Amino acid sequence: MNDPMTILKDDHREAKELLKKLGESKPGKQRQAMVDKLSNALALHMQIEEKLVYPLVEKVEGSEVRHEADIEHDLSRDGVATMREMVSMPGFGAAAEALLGGLTHHIREEENEVFPKLKKKLTRAEWLELGDEVAAAKKAGSKK
Ligand SMILES: [Fe+2]
Ligand SMILES: [Fe+2]
Repeated sequence: MNDPMTILKDDHREAKELLKKLGESKPGKQRQAMVDKLSNALALHMQIEEKLVYPLVEKVEGSEVRHEADIEHDLSRDGVATMREMVSMPGFGAAAEALLGGLTHHIREEENEVFPKLKKKLTRAEWLELGDEVAAAKKAGSKK
């Protein structure tokens, strides 16, 4: 049995730590490797949320919360794309910080509002089932 919040919060923490390191990184192979890692981790995380978590959020909260999350996810994808383009350019640090700022806002909403509200509206069994689905999707996605 898995708690979905624990898994998603771990992802959030990992992404924020990577972005902080990236903000202070120098151009080179290590930076490129970190950008790849961030890019893969965020893509999988957002895909899992969009496929498994937000459909439930929409059911219990309505479509507005989901719509806002979709927009914020798109902004994050744009931010990652910008970082990829700027990986060996001056200004990369600013791009990393911009994404960190946007992501921090989104993460705060998910952890403080969206997910706790969802947890309240689901039964414990439903919540844990979601956790198992999230864990399985993460395992399957990380192998690629
Ligand atoms: Fe999200
Ligand atoms: Fe998230």
